[in-house]
Amino acid sequence: MEKVKDVVFRVLRYNPQDDSTRWDEYKVPVVKGMTVLEGLFYIKENLDSTLTFRASCRMGVCGSCAMVVNGKHVLACQTQILKLHSDTLNVEPLNNYAIVKDLVPDLMPMLSKHRSVKPYIIRYSDPEEFNAEEPTGEYLQTPKELEEFLQFTYCIKCGACVSACPVVSGNEDFLGPQALTQAYRYAMDSRDEGYIVDRDVVSDIVSGVFRCHFVGACSDACPKGVDPGMALQLLKKEIFLNTFGLKGERPKAGFHRVDLNAPPPPDAPKPPPRTVN
Ligand code: FES
Repeated sequence: MEKVKDVVFRVLRYNPQDDSTRWDEYKVPVVKGMTVLEGLFYIKENLDSTLTFRASCRMGVCGSCAMVVNGKHVLACQTQILKLHSDTLNVEPLNNYAIVKDLVPDLMPMLSKHRSVKPYIIRYSDPEEFNAEEPTGEYLQTPKELEEFLQFTYCIKCGACVSACPVVSGNEDFLGPQALTQAYRYAMDSRDEGYIVDRDVVSDIVSGVFRCHFVGACSDACPKGVDPGMALQLLKKEIFLNTFGLKGERPKAGFHRVDLNAPPPPDAPKPPPRTVN
């Protein structure tokens, strides 16, 4: 395909061996439809094999390639270079995470918080539906019940919302928009009965949802169109209604079962040591 123009990638590099950062510039010949991720692969394959970034699905599903380009949170695999209308791209890793190398953030703190809200359906009643010998069928749900939380299921855990959150940047204990959105998502799922274990954790003065100042940067940053800012405000409402016994239709709903003592996910494999040119 014919080159449309050259675009300069200014990439913020991080060298973990001496804890140093620097900006490196690469000229990338851009063709129509080329994505930021493809530009990074061009650099790695043709200009600088030491450049490090993360990608997997290349179709906006896995969340691996979230980064900040010209100040905006994007999925690199879904962002066409020409649509950015700029001859220079400043490419940086996500904020609010330790950096493993170059454009690779350490997402483990976010994933541990995600795990802490037990992001799966918990049932105490209808045990026969779990009976492998005599299953009675699936849990039924109306379209209206599904609407209560559907958009929050689109989270791909890319980490962009946490990167954009000004509260996380000043308070690493804050559960953050990703985990709290998932707490709300499961609390509102009519099939779930796991809520009510620890309202105090979700509403904790240091780490809980009431630390959210409703800046809305998380919603602005989400590349999948999820609105974590709204989820957190609705979560506050749920806690309030349940605290004062005003939630009639779901009498069990106190608040979500958050377990900060849940074991962390397995350690991510360490990147192999390498020499930086
Ligand atoms: Fe999977 Fe970009 S590579 S979302």
